[in-house]
Formats: sequence, structure tokens, C-alpha cells
Amino acid sequence: MSVVALVLAAGRGERLGSPLPKAFVPVAGLPLLLHTLAALARVREIDCVVPVVAAADRARFEALAPALARIPKLAPAVTGGAERQDSMQAGLASLGGDVTLVAVHDAARPFVRARDVARVIAAAREVGAALLAVPVIDTIKRVRGGRVVETPERSECWAAQTPQAFRIDVLREALAKAISAGVRATDDVQLVERLGLPVAVVEGHPGNIKITRPEDFAPAQARLAEIAESEETAI
Ligand code: CTP
Ligand code: MG
Repeated sequence: MSVVALVLAAGRGERLGSPLPKAFVPVAGLPLLLHTLAALARVREIDCVVPVVAAADRARFEALAPALARIPKLAPAVTGGAERQDSMQAGLASLGGDVTLVAVHDAARPFVRARDVARVIAAAREVGAALLAVPVIDTIKRVRGGRVVETPERSECWAAQTPQAFRIDVLREALAKAISAGVRATDDVQLVERLGLPVAVVEGHPGNIKITRPEDFAPAQARLAEIAESEETAI
């Protein structure tokens, strides 16, 4: 009966354009990935945190052993794959039979709040699948070939975040069906949506940004330094 967080860190960070893979770029003195692992380890409802790193980053990850040793609940790293879904699949395949719920999180979102993670896990336990999301501020246009195709009703548009949480049997089944249908998704709940199964939306916090471009780093630096000072379990 355990709850696991998979922290996907096997991307390159093309849009960041840093010489280091994004998860290893230092922020407030520590690699981004360490901040995110620590944020999830602080969540009472999570029993185990599994980092998923690229094969090429193994040595870089192992070199962080002294800092990693200060993070509780950490499992050995799993090797990710070419696309995000491959990394999620590798993480999921590594989990044992005692796991009942899994929360999939981007290593690039270090600011997620413990209470929001707890809420999304509770919703997944009840509904089968759930994600954190925030209502969009701008009006959204669907665009193809430089032309507007449609304007979805703004009050129905939400921006998806992570964690996205699942009863493990639901995610396993959804992933197996996606693989056999050749479906590739950019987030995890899509795999459940396409089966017509319910996905609960839990309103998150706009501060749970995904560090993506170089300009995201300066504010991240300041906020992570603040968090490190205020948290009891700071790393
Ligand atoms: N990710 C992963 N395995 C991949 C690709 C992405 O584990 N093959 C992870 C990233 O490490 C990141 C998360 O998925 O934490 C969200 O992806 P994104 O922010 O797009 O990161 P990157 O793919 O690394 O960045 P970019 O798209 O700019 O290259
Ligand atoms: Mg990407």
C-alpha cells in the first residue's frame, strides 16, 4: 500500500539552451533536480521518490550522492528514454507490486506545494486519475497554418501542470493501450482521457511553473534560495 512519486528528469532542456542538461543546472547552489526531489520527499502522503534520469546523465547523477543522501525516501534512479512518455514508462516498469498510487512529476517544476500534491493524490485515489491545473488567463486560440481554427470557451480552458496522479492499475492499463495504438502523449493523463475514463482536475497554484526558458531561471533562483532558508528539511 504505498504511494510513489516518479520525478522525470531525463530531458535535455533544448529550450533552455544550457550546456548542462536542464535537471542538472544549478539553481540557488544545487542542481534543479535536487530541489524537486526534496519538494516531493517533504510530502507526507508520498512514501518513495524515484528519479528518472537519462543514460547519459548517470555519472552526473551519481556524483550528487552526498547531497542525495540528505533527501529522505529516495529510491535508486531509473534510466529514462528518448521521449517523456518513454521515461514515464521506464519509471512505472520499475515499481513493485506493493505500489497502489503513482504521482508523475516534472523535474522542471521545483515549486510544487506539498498540500497541492496531497490533494491531487487524494483525488486520484478516489477517481482513478487526477492532475493539478490552473485556469488560463489569456483567451486561447486553436491555430493551424497561421490561421485561427477556433476559440475555445475560456472558462473551460485550464493549463495542465504536474504532478498527475493515478491508481497504478489505471496508469498501467492506459499506457499499455497507448503503446498498442501507437499513441504518444505530451502529458500523462491524456492516456487515461483517451479511454473515456474520468480524470479529476485539482486547482493548483500558478507558481508551480515548469522551468523551460533561460528567463525562468532568475526568479527561480530567488524563490529556491528562499525555500531553502525556510524549510526544515532543506537540503
Ligand atoms: N523528460 C524526461 N524524458 C524525456 C523528455 C523529458 O524525463 N525524454 C522530462 C524532463 O526532464 C522534464 C519533464 O519531462 O523534467 C518535462 O519536460 P520539458 O520541460 O519539456 O523538459 P525537456 O524535454 O528537458 O526540455 P525541452 O523540451 O526544452 O528540450
Ligand atoms: Mg520537452
